[in-house]
Amino acid sequence: MSGASEKAVALLRQLDLSIYTSADRDEVLAFKCAPIGHRPAEAAQDLIYKATDRLGDFGSGYPYFVLARDNGVLVGAIIFGLEHPDDPAIQIFTLGVAVTRHREGIGTMLKKIAMALAVSDEAFPNAVASTVHRANYRMNGLNDNLGIGRNQDPLDGEFYITGATVELVNGPEIVRVTDRPPED
Ligand SMILES: CC(C)(COP(=O)(O)OP(=O)(O)OC[C@H]1O[C@@H](n2cnc3c(N)ncnc32)[C@H](O)[C@@H]1OP(=O)(O)O)[C@@H](O)C(=O)NCCC(=O)NCCS
Repeated sequence: MSGASEKAVALLRQLDLSIYTSADRDEVLAFKCAPIGHRPAEAAQDLIYKATDRLGDFGSGYPYFVLARDNGVLVGAIIFGLEHPDDPAIQIFTLGVAVTRHREGIGTMLKKIAMALAVSDEAFPNAVASTVHRANYRMNGLNDNLGIGRNQDPLDGEFYITGATVELVNGPEIVRVTDRPPED
């Protein structure tokens, strides 16, 4: 196993994953993933807060809202599901990692888990999409690392639309990107 995979396995063992319930609300509202003054990150954080009361407003309704804790402390959150019932890809609506825990691979692990659930859930296509502000170098870097492609949003040049088809793989990598959209 490569050094990077060993790190991923250790992280996966360490994280305690759960589906959001109203009992988590106060903890989620106190969760900070956005570095101060970084607007695209603050927008992602606000979506996490909004989901505590209005998860039904996301996409075609009631997506997965997954929390990750380490030793009882909330370190990450991801929300994903279908934007419209017949979309060819699930949407990652938002993803955040506690500012104190950035750059440890937690965001990558949460995105991989979302992709794995997409492939495993019969209600979902085996493809994943998201909209990312072009200035959000952290999220764009994470997607680049996973091999996920992007194109400029034709409706708003400030954003990229990302997309990829994925498959499950045996072993610590969990998922593999099998295709990415042709780039502009
Ligand atoms: C985007 C975010 C979720 C990334 O989470 P993370 O756990 O820190 O990311 P990872 O540790 O998995 O990083 C994976 C890769 O992303 C890139 N990346 C992440 N943070 C970076 C940074 N500060 N600078 C440069 N590259 C960065 C790197 O390529 C990194 O790989 P490396 O550490 O091996 O070089 C986190 O920064 C965050 O919560 N941001 C605020 C909310 C947000 O903007 N969400 C995205 C909404 S679209």
